[in-house]
Amino acid sequence: MRNVLIKNIKRLLQVRENISKPLKGKEMADIPFIENAWLALENGVISDYGSMEQLHGVADWRNLTVIDAENRFVLPAWCDSHTHAVHAGPREIEFVDRIKGLSYEDIAARGGGILNSVDKLRETDENQLYDEAWERLSNFMRQGTGAIEIKSGYGLSLESELKMLRVVKRLRENHRMIVRSTFLGAHAIPREYLTNKDGYLDLLIHTMIPTVVDQGLAEFIDVFCEKNYFTTDDTQRILEAGAMHGLVPKVHVNQFNSIGGIKVCANNGALTVDHLEILSEDDYALLHAHQALPVALPGCSFFIQIPYTPGRRMIDEGLPLVLASDYNPGSCPSGNMNFVISLACIQMKLTPEEAINAATINGAFAMHAENETGSIRKGAVANLIITKPMKSLALLPYHFGDSPIESVIIKGESI
Ligand code: NIG
Ligand code: FE
Repeated sequence: MRNVLIKNIKRLLQVRENISKPLKGKEMADIPFIENAWLALENGVISDYGSMEQLHGVADWRNLTVIDAENRFVLPAWCDSHTHAVHAGPREIEFVDRIKGLSYEDIAARGGGILNSVDKLRETDENQLYDEAWERLSNFMRQGTGAIEIKSGYGLSLESELKMLRVVKRLRENHRMIVRSTFLGAHAIPREYLTNKDGYLDLLIHTMIPTVVDQGLAEFIDVFCEKNYFTTDDTQRILEAGAMHGLVPKVHVNQFNSIGGIKVCANNGALTVDHLEILSEDDYALLHAHQALPVALPGCSFFIQIPYTPGRRMIDEGLPLVLASDYNPGSCPSGNMNFVISLACIQMKLTPEEAINAATINGAFAMHAENETGSIRKGAVANLIITKPMKSLALLPYHFGDSPIESVIIKGESI
């Protein structure tokens, strides 16, 4: 691997040598930077950086790729902490059904939605799932994402959940991106258990969780805690069983209804609570009292036209905030984090700096990847975005739908 020197960087953003906690409240307003900077990468890792004024002769230029980043910003690649990137194809028929007036919940109520993806995934070959997911990840990488969390949850049987998670494991081993794995066996009640939910909970708790952990296939556990999916009592049981096997909760809560999911997550030491489109005053109090990181998924709000997570209020009240894509075939078929950041600015009223903090360093914390990525510091994985020439950082979310990126470097290699 050739070593890289990026020189003449207009601004090297997100330089944080020591950061032990996610950013919250007012801390999210600023991104530390070095003006007119250089950045050196060795063996896929950030080895050094500084101001151009202090760049005195590099010892050996022969084995060095030099990139001139004049007028360009350099920042850490996006950290997308919530996706369903392994699945068996799109659900564009439901998209058209929604255009004609059905809601996401209507479609689920008549047996479609997640269960459509389950039917397809069960009959899709493992290698095909892998190849398709590989292509998706490569596409996200070109759009600037360098670390991704991927959930299971379209198998809903022991065999098919393991198949999904093996695909995630292979991606983790072979893809350039940093990958994290979450077991979401509690994504919906599978068709064969629709009249026997307790039977499915037994399978989840007594067979699926232990097997997944035994085979080293996941580090996080997720539940779709929602009316018509899993209750707070179900969620409690599942998270408890997960904890006995060392799985850390990252949970879908408050997407359509506030049914008490945040409390269960808080009591079970959840790392993140994701969605949060519908929040009661009690929910805010719980977010303040506990550590669970709120994760907003504005691409989902955009695509299925539900309220946006009140990120502005959360930050104003001093809470941390994470942004992720929720990439999945039902509620958000885009994993483009540049668009997520534009939406967060336009629809949630985050400033560009807040949105970038939420999608880099805070995103890394939201999937236990903060020691590898999310900030510019010596020893971090060289996952970087080099923007197009830009006068100000606000132009990054401003040109929504257009790529602000000139090139992406993942593990030290240009993509
Ligand atoms: O995060 N809400 C639950 N899960 C996904 C959607 C999954 C699907 O529709 O396939 C979400 O929105
Ligand atoms: Fe999701």
